[in-house]
Amino acid sequence: MKFARIFASTTLLVTGCSHEMPYSYRPDPSNESTLAEQAATMYETNCAGCHGIDGGGSSARPLDDPRWWATVTDAQVVHVVSSGCGVLMPAFSKSNGGSLDDATIPPMVSQWRARWSKPNTTPAPSGWLVQQGDPTRGAALYTTACQRCHPTGAAGGITDENYLALQSDQALWNGIVFGRPDLGKVGLDISATDSADIVAWLGSKRPAWTKKDPSP
Ligand code: HEC
Ligand code: HEC
Repeated sequence: MKFARIFASTTLLVTGCSHEMPYSYRPDPSNESTLAEQAATMYETNCAGCHGIDGGGSSARPLDDPRWWATVTDAQVVHVVSSGCGVLMPAFSKSNGGSLDDATIPPMVSQWRARWSKPNTTPAPSGWLVQQGDPTRGAALYTTACQRCHPTGAAGGITDENYLALQSDQALWNGIVFGRPDLGKVGLDISATDSADIVAWLGSKRPAWTKKDPSP
């Protein structure tokens, strides 16, 4: 179980992608390239295939979004990279079965932040989905806020059950709050509650074999 997921009778705390994690910094003294060079190489080798060259986005969302960096802490990003996210983002730390030494991840994340964040960027209200939404309310909100660009029933669209089976609730949240700047969609100006309600409705449309958020 890579993700801690806390269920209560009325509340679902989606904590999987948001845990703070203590870490220690241990640079490799035998490596003569700068940390920035190491971070660029580590990114291109392990991440660019999905998140795009230079963090610009590809099959997975871009990581060069300053608004996203302004919203998340290094420890949170370290946790996601170490333990993975949803079904499509692998765990990279050796302690989670990945290929990267645990201690090398935090300094790389600091470098990626230095590369892709921009000073004075206004953070999004919340980087993480942390509340259980109301799917009934979400259905109505979808019609007014999303339908015109994401028509329901479109094959391969965001209401397609095969798409939803592979997307974590957090990924859906990101699509609303941060958008896909690489695909011409900026984050929507929408409250955390409305966003969580829409995620809950989309989640309810996952196929029968996975009626739930596919995070491990
Ligand atoms: C096989 C494709 C793939 C690779 C390789 C990959 N990622 Fe991901 N990544 C994804 C997908 C897909 C998601 C969204 C997963 C979800 O929540 O459903 C994601 C999510 C993330 C997130 C979380 C974003 C958020 O707000 O929830 C971060 C951070 C991230 N990846 C960083 C990295 C880094 C850094 C690397 C390289 C060390 C990497 N990824 C390699 C596919 C990949
Ligand atoms: C003005 C048009 C527009 C509106 C309104 C809009 N979107 Fe999008 N959305 C896009 C575009 C363009 C993309 C990128 C192409 C794609 O993935 O379909 C996108 C992508 C997404 C993604 C996929 C993100 C990814 O990484 O694959 C999700 C999820 C999403 N939108 C959810 C929503 C929801 C939910 C709403 C309503 C709250 C909404 N969008 C409203 C245009 C819009």
